[in-house]
Amino acid sequence: MTNPTVLSVHAPGRVNLIGEHTDYTGGLAFPMAIDRGTTLTATRHGSDLVLTSDDAPGRVEVTLPFEGDPSSLEPQWASFIAAVAAELGSTEGLEGHLRSDIPAGAGLSSSAALMCVIGLALGFEGSPLELAQHARRAEHAATGVPTGIMDQYCIAAAVAGHATLIDCAELSIEQVPVPDEIDIAVRFIAHRTLRGSSYSDRVDECARATSEVGPLRAATLDLVNAITDPIARKRARHVVSENQRVRDFADALRRADYPALGRLLRAGHASLRDDFDTSTPQMDAAVDELNATDGVFGARMTGGGFGGCVVAICEPGALQDAWIVTPSAGARVLPPGD
Ligand code: GLA
Repeated sequence: MTNPTVLSVHAPGRVNLIGEHTDYTGGLAFPMAIDRGTTLTATRHGSDLVLTSDDAPGRVEVTLPFEGDPSSLEPQWASFIAAVAAELGSTEGLEGHLRSDIPAGAGLSSSAALMCVIGLALGFEGSPLELAQHARRAEHAATGVPTGIMDQYCIAAAVAGHATLIDCAELSIEQVPVPDEIDIAVRFIAHRTLRGSSYSDRVDECARATSEVGPLRAATLDLVNAITDPIARKRARHVVSENQRVRDFADALRRADYPALGRLLRAGHASLRDDFDTSTPQMDAAVDELNATDGVFGARMTGGGFGGCVVAICEPGALQDAWIVTPSAGARVLPPGD
């Protein structure tokens, strides 16, 4: 009897450089896959998904095909795995072990990385966009949180050395080179989950704004200022100004204007804090501290908010006590021996 084929699959986490809470309104987002990720080593056999993880005791077993409600499974990573298998209609099982150096609850998309890894390990062979769409639907089924496509699309499609500019209406991407003469620094400040947070409220508030003025992607700030619902008006002001910051950020990156990048990060944070209400005093303090540090061009909270990480762009070596993340390749089956 021959040994079953050992399969290794890796997916990176991502840090969103700018373009926060724009994806589910059909806006622009500019995340970057990082050199932290999740790797699965597995063999395909049987009709059960059997997984262990460095991060959790015990093992998760899901019998395929999975047709139940994934959100009812415990622990939560079991619901993610079952949701991907259900989404792909998988019937062939695998047994494997997960390792990850993306902390959960940090806003660095550990769940999207896990879902992309499981999708590829289950034999998914479509395009990065299709993988992202499956993973996004699976995340909705597992968590009930109506997240956008930014995380999964970046993680599925990223190219080493680049950040991924995503047009969430067209579902098109442009890979923009990231110069190595700047450091992109990430600090993990506070654990959070989007389940049970005000994330879904923000999605509803943006939908209310859209029902007054049409797609926010096409709206001007003048139009937004005429929105009658004061909360919807503030949320829309963030989205419309943030879409412009993404365009300006991509332009500044292309011409290596690092002070401009820093100013855009600072303005993006102020907008999340004052108009979108997704920051916290602890995140504000962490951003303020970075902005006052020599060699830091600018910083902001990154990800869904209510905690998580801050990201800063700085001169090389300016920050010692932060992760200096490098732009990395997207989710992939690793060649044997990697
Ligand atoms: C989370 C969601 C994304 C996006 C961000 C906020 O990461 O998964 O779809 O909405 O929050 O920009």
